[in-house]
This record gives sequence, C-alpha cells and structure tokens, in this order.
Amino acid sequence: MLTILLIMAMIGQGQSWDSLGTSFITIFPENIAFYYPLSPVNALNITAVLPDTVVEVFISGQLPYTYTLLEGQPLTVTFSVGIEEYQFGEISQTVRISSTKNIVVQSISKKGDSVQTNVIQPWKNLGTVYTIPLLNYSQMINTFYQSARNISKRYNSFRLVIINGEDLINNVKIVKRSIEEIYTLSPFTALQLQTDGTETKIYSDYRVAVMLTHPCVETDECRCNMVLNQLYPDVQEDSRFVVPSIPNTSKFWLHVTSSVETSASGGDLESSTVDAYSSKLLSLPSLQLGSQFIHISNPASFRLVSPGIIIEPISQYRFSGCYLVTVSSTDAKALIIAETYYRDSVYIDNDLLLSTEWSTIANSVYSSVLVSFDDTHVIWHPSTKIGVYVFEKSTNVYGGPAISLSAKPDPSGCAVVPPEFDIIVTPQTWPESHQYCKLISDELFSPSNEDAQAEMADILNNEGMNERLWIGVRRSLMTLDWYRQKGKSSHNLTYTWWGTGEPGDAAKGMCASVFPNPSMDFLWETTNCCTKLKSICYTRAQYFTISKETAKHSNA
Ligand SMILES: *[C@@H]1O[C@H](CO)[C@@H](O)[C@H](O)[C@H]1NC(C)=O
Ligand SMILES: *[C@@H]1O[C@H](CO)[C@@H](O)[C@H](O)[C@H]1NC(C)=O
Ligand SMILES: *[C@@H]1O[C@H](CO)[C@@H](O)[C@H](O)[C@H]1NC(C)=O
Ligand SMILES: *[C@@H]1O[C@H](CO)[C@@H](O)[C@H](O)[C@H]1NC(C)=O
Ligand SMILES: *[C@@H]1O[C@H](CO)[C@@H](O)[C@H](O)[C@H]1NC(C)=O
Repeated sequence: MLTILLIMAMIGQGQSWDSLGTSFITIFPENIAFYYPLSPVNALNITAVLPDTVVEVFISGQLPYTYTLLEGQPLTVTFSVGIEEYQFGEISQTVRISSTKNIVVQSISKKGDSVQTNVIQPWKNLGTVYTIPLLNYSQMINTFYQSARNISKRYNSFRLVIINGEDLINNVKIVKRSIEEIYTLSPFTALQLQTDGTETKIYSDYRVAVMLTHPCVETDECRCNMVLNQLYPDVQEDSRFVVPSIPNTSKFWLHVTSSVETSASGGDLESSTVDAYSSKLLSLPSLQLGSQFIHISNPASFRLVSPGIIIEPISQYRFSGCYLVTVSSTDAKALIIAETYYRDSVYIDNDLLLSTEWSTIANSVYSSVLVSFDDTHVIWHPSTKIGVYVFEKSTNVYGGPAISLSAKPDPSGCAVVPPEFDIIVTPQTWPESHQYCKLISDELFSPSNEDAQAEMADILNNEGMNERLWIGVRRSLMTLDWYRQKGKSSHNLTYTWWGTGEPGDAAKGMCASVFPNPSMDFLWETTNCCTKLKSICYTRAQYFTISKETAKHSNA
C-alpha cells in the first residue's frame, strides 16, 4: 500500500462561496400576490454540473423522487399548491434535495405575473450565527409611497423562516431586544414566525438556513409581489460592494443592519451612521443611472430594496470566476460587473463579450454592462472575479445574483471540480512514479508555467515537504532533449525552473526532480531516474458545459 496525501488545489485560498453542493433545504413560503384565485407555480430548477448525477427530492422527509441528470440540463420539479407554507410555528413541510455529485438549485414561485426566484444556498454556505435585518414593513411601505396605507394585521410584517439544515436536533436561539427565545427544531424541520422588529440575532447549535419573506409586498395600487430573501450568515458579511442598478426600476433604498455602530458612504448615498443593532433605509436617488460602489465602515448585512423586490448585493468578497445564467422570459438582462482593466476578457459561453456599452463605476476599479439574454448560458472570466445578476420582467421586475458555479477564475472556463494534487509519500523510481500517477490520477505533475510552479511550491510548503520529489519532466533517450511527460503524451518544454548549474549532463541523470532550496520555491534538478523519491500526481480540473440534449428522467 502506498501512502498518499490528498490535496485540493483550493488549499490556502480561503472559503469559497460558490452555490455548488450535494445537500440543500428550503421551504416554499406563502405567495398571495393577486387576491383572486389563481393557481400558483412552485418549482425547483436543478442543474447538475457533472454527468450521471442522481438527485433525490424529499418533501417532509417522505420517500424521495429520484432523477438522473445529464450535466448542464436543467430539471424542473413542480409541486402541488399544498407545498406553500402559511402556518406559523414549527413546520415539517420542508423540501430537501440531495445528490450524488455537485448540483445547483433555484426555486421559483409564480402567481399570475408575480414571480420570485431564489438561488438556494447549499449546506456548506449555511451558518450558525446570523444578524437579522430589522425590516419594518409599514415603515418600508410608507417610505416607498410617502403616504400611510392600511395593511391587514396578518400581512403587516415580514416572516422569519429558520430551517434546520441537519439530520440532528438543533437548538436555535433568537435574540430579541430584551429577551431571548429558544426553539428546538427536529431534523430537517423549520420554524416560521411573524417578525416584530425586535429580533437581532440567531444562534444555532448546527447549521440553519434563514429567510425573510413576505407574501405580498405592495408595489402599486392593488398589486403586490411575494418577496423572499435568503440571508447570508455573519461570517460572509463584508464592507465593500457594488450595488446593482436594477433595470426598469426607479426607486431604490439600501437597507443596512449591523451588530456594531457603522457608517455607510459611496455612490450618491448621504453619509450616514447606523447604530449598533439597528437598521436604516438609505436612499439611493440616482441608482437608476448606473451601479454604485458603496463602502461600509464595518462588515454589515445589507440589501437593496425597491417596491416588490429585495436583493442581497454580491459583496466584493463573494465575487466569482464563473456563473450560470438561466432565464424564464424573453425580456431578460444580465448585469455584469468586472474590473475595468480586465473587462474586455469576459466570456459568454465560448465567446468573448465584445461590448462598447461598459460604463465605469465611480470611485471603484469596476465597470458594469447590461446584456440581453435568453435561454441558459455561462458567464465567466479567465483571470479575475466578477459579479453577475439576472433581472427579468413580467409586470414586476424579479431576479438577483446569478448562480455562482466556481469562485476561482480559470483560464479554460468554469472549473466545477478544481484540480487535485496527490503527494505520494512512499519513495519510488521515476518510471514507477509516472506509472502510479497514471493509475490514480491524470499524470505525474509537471509545472507548465510560473503560476503552476508557484501553486505546486505553495502546496509542498503547506504540507511541510522538506525534501526532493519527482515531477513529470525527463529527457529523450535518443536526442537527450528534455520534455514534459503528461500521462501518455509528451510535450516540448516551454517553461523551466532549473536551479543554478542545471540542467546537468546525461551522466547526472535523465529525469528531473524538485528540491527544497532555501527560498522554498522548489527549483528543478537533474536526477538519476532510479533514485527512489516521493512524487506529486495531478488530476486536471473538470469544466462545466451546457448540454442541449433532453434530460433522462426516471421517476422512482
Ligand atoms: C416601524 O415603523 C413605524 C413607522 O412607520 C414605527 O411607528 C414603528 O415603531 C416601527 N416599528 C419598530 C419595531 O421599529
Ligand atoms: C384605514 O382604515 C380605516 C378603517 O377601515 C379608515 O377609516 C381609514 O380611512 C383608512 N386609511 C387609509 C389611508 O386608507
Ligand atoms: C425596460 O427598460 C429598457 C431600457 O432600460 C426598455 O428598453 C424596455 O422597454 C423596458 N421594459 C419594459 C417592459 O418596460
Ligand atoms: C427552469 O427550467 C426550465 C427548463 O426545465 C426553463 O424553461 C425555465 O425558464 C427555468 N426557469 C428559470 C427561472 O430559470
Ligand atoms: C519539439 O522540439 C523538437 C526539437 O527541438 C522539434 O523538432 C519539434 O518540432 C518540437 N515540437 C513541437 C511540437 O514544437
């Protein structure tokens, strides 16, 4: 048995907040938009990123529906009317999705032309500490319309939904201004409460999903829109973000909540201070002219509110390398935010986005552009992180952040499975190492450029590898020329990182190893191929492609 150290390339790059996962949980909140009887549509759109993904959908923990998905082929699962949860208190009617490989999941709630979509966050993005924004419904409506309105008691506040993301009993503490309330949630159940504006924090023993929802936020005379806002846990709070200009919308407010006193500035925001554990609605009068860069003195929870829509801007910290964009209407737009210097390298599927419509965002390094869309696409950048939103319009505008498929930019597209390094700790000769790497991975690793060399050095340093290792570089027995051996194929060397006096002559050796030189950047050295050394195997990244074929459905 050989000893292997398995290392993901993501090492040392911090948490990534892409929306990929194998476990998701949500509920479908009440949608009373349009008071007259009209059948609602409550559905999930599930997209697999790898072939042959088996997906199970459980309702109230009951025997699951099972589907086998092709990569990039969205599956729509539509539910009966009874899925909507209007009860308060503990509720067992949750919808749980689990899969054998990574998927992304979006929920859609539609009644008449009131539509809400939400990217359901996977288990890995849920948290145990949340700050609750104090969304005061009557204040919000009064601010929108500058007049008092009569609101029925049942609908005069937002609802707070807390969903137990674990197969365990989960104690949830809701901290209010003067008291604390403790609730015990059974595995995969939820709690729905009417907010009264005094809730400030949630602490749970295990991970929970938290949503704020309202069945019918008034937008205009006799019209309203169901609103759903899944909160991010406190660990994801950030202080810098671009607030997107939502197309076909004229009134905007930034809603800021923080656990500490904080001040907000930037864009055309009046500089203002928000007290600890309080919230403010800050007007953004000219946001309709273009997106704005906002800065907050302390990490805070913030959302963009406008009549009938609440969205959580993608903070700078949560920008990603690649997004999936799916739309359901013919009037859909993607708002792309990229660093001005790199904005001409944004790709849509396999094509560069060549646009003259980019506009720079004041006091920031960013630019934004609005692009018309149909169908399903990926938007990605080969070297820097970008932000992407999707907005659609029926009578009301709906949408929000696009689905992040991969946090880290990759020059070849959307790397939904990052590359993987395996350090083989058992010493072997170069031919043995080469054969063994082909068996367990793609190849014995050979750095092909400066970045790859630096990434390898980082990994070896992180693992405290203070010794020599084989790489996939050797010389031809016939010509003595050096080449890279990548699995079965060989390639001329276009990049080298030889130490001083290297490469040595054929008498010194026919193979190359890396050694821990004083600056620990692992220079290359000519080595006798029969020496027994540790080695580093490499599995290439896997990329997402959109499949135009029909999905194979197998209802169990
Ligand atoms: C909500 O706002 C109204 C004013 O529109 C105010 O009278 C009320 O006290 C606020 N509620 C809370 C809990 O802050
Ligand atoms: C609100 O309802 C009360 C009682 O039904 C009524 O007297 C009042 O005029 C209404 N106010 C508005 C602003 O519609
Ligand atoms: C939305 O705004 C765009 C311009 O930004 C305009 O061309 C389009 O007609 C508007 N759509 C609707 C439905 O109002
Ligand atoms: C959900 O997927 C279906 C295809 O199964 C597609 O027609 C629809 O537009 C999608 N909805 C959204 C909101 O992306
Ligand atoms: C590799 O190098 C050899 C010798 O220098 C040369 O003849 C050959 O054309 C090169 N191959 C490629 C693909 O560049």
